[in-house]
Amino acid sequence: MANQGGGILTLSMSDTQSKENLEYWENRYKKRNFEWHIEEVHPQLLKYLSKLTQLETEETVEGSKAKKFFVPLCGKTKDIPFLLKLGFEVFAVEAIDSVVQELINENNLELTFDEKRSIYHDKDEQLKIYCGDLFKCPIEEYGPFDCIWDRASFIALDYSFRPSYIDMMKRSVGYGSENGVHNFRYLLQSVTYDKSNFAGPPRCVDAADIKEFFGLWADVTVLESNWVSLDHPCRRVNGYYEDDFFEEFHFFQPKN
Ligand SMILES: C[S@@+](CC[C@H](N)C(=O)[O-])C[C@H]1O[C@@H](n2cnc3c(N)ncnc32)[C@H](O)[C@@H]1O
Repeated sequence: MANQGGGILTLSMSDTQSKENLEYWENRYKKRNFEWHIEEVHPQLLKYLSKLTQLETEETVEGSKAKKFFVPLCGKTKDIPFLLKLGFEVFAVEAIDSVVQELINENNLELTFDEKRSIYHDKDEQLKIYCGDLFKCPIEEYGPFDCIWDRASFIALDYSFRPSYIDMMKRSVGYGSENGVHNFRYLLQSVTYDKSNFAGPPRCVDAADIKEFFGLWADVTVLESNWVSLDHPCRRVNGYYEDDFFEEFHFFQPKN
């Protein structure tokens, strides 16, 4: 497959895997099994907003100060209306149409669907939601992004999707483009546990994974590593996963 950034990519997932992945998430929504969803703005987005945007949180975002956010695999996160209210531009991606509809209805968003681009958007395109498979999104048309907020996205996907996911993220900040790498800031939520006895999702991201997938193209800082309580929904799979389980937050910016 040709990369719009120029090179030739070896993508490690097949069409069948992509289809199965989307069916998996669609089924979870059908069964109303989306326990990762929270009805509030994510605490770590609030906590690190000024680090991510390089603006003071209370500062209103106008004109030249406006920042462009990328929210991959957005579900119906409350973070979207929150970022919009602050004046940021948001580009989000979600494959399941019914979830996008819920996001729209629950937040009284007035969006129109542009079938040609597969994009839901508001009047002035402050919000655009690409409704489709992330890996088919022509991301260069919407980037480069100043800020990326990945909550439960990288960890939602099968291990085999990781090279493709990283390729998308790199393209979203201008890697491989004529203009070169944009001055991005990227906050990633991940979880880590013993992979040998829990298949996920959420899928494990350990220090070696961070190094392998992000270390070559970004400066990496681990902001937090928190032990997750035993009854937390993300531990649930045939009962509750009982061994050590940590939620982590990583911060990436262009390599010096
Ligand atoms: C664990 S949920 C996280 C949702 C959201 N980030 C949040 O924090 O609430 C993962 C989401 O990714 C979506 N998804 C999974 N694979 C996708 C793909 N290849 N393209 C677009 N969306 C995808 C699912 O439908 C689901 O809404």
